[in-house]
Amino acid sequence: MSAITIAVDGPAASGKSTVGQKVAEALGYLYFDTGVMYRAVAWAALERGIPIEDEGRVTELAYAMDIGIEPPEVDDGRQNTVLADGIDITWKIREPEVNRAVSPVSAYAGVRVALMAQQREIGAQGGVVMVGRDIGTVVLPEAELKVYLDASLEERALRRHREATQRGATSTLEEQIEAIRRRDEIDSSREVAPLLQADDAYYLDTTDLDIEQVVQRILDQVPADAHNGDDGCC
Ligand code: DC
Repeated sequence: MSAITIAVDGPAASGKSTVGQKVAEALGYLYFDTGVMYRAVAWAALERGIPIEDEGRVTELAYAMDIGIEPPEVDDGRQNTVLADGIDITWKIREPEVNRAVSPVSAYAGVRVALMAQQREIGAQGGVVMVGRDIGTVVLPEAELKVYLDASLEERALRRHREATQRGATSTLEEQIEAIRRRDEIDSSREVAPLLQADDAYYLDTTDLDIEQVVQRILDQVPADAHNGDDGCC
């Protein structure tokens, strides 16, 4: 078996985390969602009353924080357990205030440098599906497989709206469209590591595909000897 590194990028709600986790499971790889690290910094800044516009203090915080990402030991739908200085913030980082704060936080160059070292260390081990906005372009430009997932704004907002409704939240579809449009704008137009498709990425528009179809198309791109399955091969 020769495990590879898979970089998955794309805009908010394009299906990266659901699909990334399933691809990792199918291959017996580690799944790593880099977005939770930016969310952890945004949450901690809000928690400590640090103004999100204060780039210096937010950056200091990113360097000082100990962000832990561990396998889920609670069965409540989480993909990983996210810890900030030992506190379980897995669900706190999905709150609307964090959704609003995270794009500006992730646009700060210093914050990105602080978090990238850990991302690269994990990527260097191989056998990992790493999900984010700049994985194929900046964090792991040498990844053997790069995937760029996309979907129309309306479809992505609809996916988020369904998830929110299932959780009992009361946001409208129009609010989701507006929130995602705003995040797209910030993620794509920031100066440092903007959301971009790598030249050598496999582009997949998921608007009319279901999750299993997307997973299968990505698995079709993975060389047969890169599967870390239990077929006894390695
Ligand atoms: O994928 P997500 O919604 O959890 O990402 C949260 C924010 O972090 C989003 O605004 C984009 C940003 N992000 C980033 O800039 N670079 C990454 N590698 C991952 C996420």
